[in-house]
Amino acid sequence: MESAAWAPAQSPPEPAPEVLAAFEAAKGFMPLDEGLALYAAAADAARLGLPLLEIGTYCGRSTLLLADAARRAEGDVTVLTLDHHRGSEEQQPGWEYHDPGLVDPEVGLMDTLPFFRRTLHAAGLEEHVVALVGRSPRAASVWGGPLGLVFVDGGHTDEHATADYEGWVPHLAEGGLLVIHDVFPDPADGGQAPYRIRCRALASGAFTEERAVRSLRVLRRTGPGI
Ligand SMILES: C[S@@+](CC[C@H](N)C(=O)[O-])C[C@H]1O[C@@H](n2cnc3c(N)ncnc32)[C@H](O)[C@@H]1O
Repeated sequence: MESAAWAPAQSPPEPAPEVLAAFEAAKGFMPLDEGLALYAAAADAARLGLPLLEIGTYCGRSTLLLADAARRAEGDVTVLTLDHHRGSEEQQPGWEYHDPGLVDPEVGLMDTLPFFRRTLHAAGLEEHVVALVGRSPRAASVWGGPLGLVFVDGGHTDEHATADYEGWVPHLAEGGLLVIHDVFPDPADGGQAPYRIRCRALASGAFTEERAVRSLRVLRRTGPGI
């Protein structure tokens, strides 16, 4: 059964107004209501004092929200944001989400890294973020520490989403949050890979879904396993 829209008992935390303005101005695909839900999840997870990981930086639109939540958390919380910065399948030339302005003319490939860096710098949030540049499975293969939040918004094929899930979710601490973007229960609305990892997480018995806002899902780790 699909979860109903979550009704907060009290007003959830919101980003600083200048961060919200930077979010709305940045290139990216996340609508405001999902961004606010991501921010609230990051503020909640940051209380664990562990790094918050984003898979899929793109131009830094969603990273801004994670970074602001980390900045305002008690303790020294770091955001890790991971991307090879060459774009997902659907962002390549000829595809629906291609932006020709993101192609590096010298190498003829997409390069979102400079755009991400400018976004973060302009918002004054560089101090709180470590950018990991590379492919998700390779980065996961050398990562060893616990994480307070895993936000999955990288490649949307089954191969990529499954690798993100299997590579990073084992590091999510108990009480931490798994946030998945582009979850579409109805195939008519979009690709099914993020939906499938969300279902896998719930079927594992290690997660409880706490919030659904449009295509964003927030799941809390309640036990071991994936
Ligand atoms: C949908 S965009 C992320 C959007 C961003 N979270 C936002 O809301 O602004 C997906 C990103 O994932 C990256 N990506 C796709 N597959 C990846 C992989 N296997 N490893 C690292 N990054 C990947 C792409 O380069 C792209 O920038």
